[in-house]
Amino acid sequence: MSRKILIAGNWKMNGLLEDGKALAGNVAAEVKKLGKPECEFLVCPPFTLLTTVKKALRGSKVAMGAQDCHTAEKGAHTGDISPVMLKDCGCSYVIIGHSERRADHHESNELICQKAEAAHKAGLKTVICIGETEAERDAQKTIDVCTRQIMGSVPDSATAADTVIAYEPVWAIGTGKTPTTADVEEVHAAIRKVLAKKLGKGNANKMRILYGGSMKPANAAALLSLPDVDGGLIGGASLKASDFMAIAASVCKK
Ligand code: 13P
Repeated sequence: MSRKILIAGNWKMNGLLEDGKALAGNVAAEVKKLGKPECEFLVCPPFTLLTTVKKALRGSKVAMGAQDCHTAEKGAHTGDISPVMLKDCGCSYVIIGHSERRADHHESNELICQKAEAAHKAGLKTVICIGETEAERDAQKTIDVCTRQIMGSVPDSATAADTVIAYEPVWAIGTGKTPTTADVEEVHAAIRKVLAKKLGKGNANKMRILYGGSMKPANAAALLSLPDVDGGLIGGASLKASDFMAIAASVCKK
């Protein structure tokens, strides 16, 4: 299967200018040392750091993404950022529908789908996030919830070239808890089946499905070696270049 592993860092609401410059510079320098790495790298800083990070990544193979976007290209939407603006400042990706946005900003599947469509129209690739809460998991609704989220928040027009799915169990984010590798593989395989139904087998087989939620150097190799896990969306451990690169080292050979 020719799915290139994607090692993605979601910096969330962290970092001032100097931190962003240093972190991006360190990641770029480490990735450069890998020569032609077998995997792809992505960092997603907060909006305020995009320009600084872009400069620090210059000449490196590390792509940059944002953490959200609006559905419109421009206009009267105070405080929002459009996908066209993100593309303009050097982003090639945008994370959409992260559970923290679903919770903090009441984002619905429908809105997330519209954001993804707008991002694709602007020429951005999307990382669309899904995942169950602890209560949903306890009620054995994980696959149902993920199915509903995929059906509602992934555009019908999505392809493996413009869309990446991130499975992030809400209860595993920032908690140090992770599902067992067997559970992760079961959910990822189920997600791929749903994608096949929605987008066709060709797209589903090529589309990358990342795991996110307390991924760190100690558990990355086990998670990233699962057949249907095509990379990681890393929060806390992406804020330290050495941890981020240690996670990558478990799968990206020189
Ligand atoms: P942590 O790696 O800090 O658990 O965060 C995961 C996440 O939410 C990435 O989007």
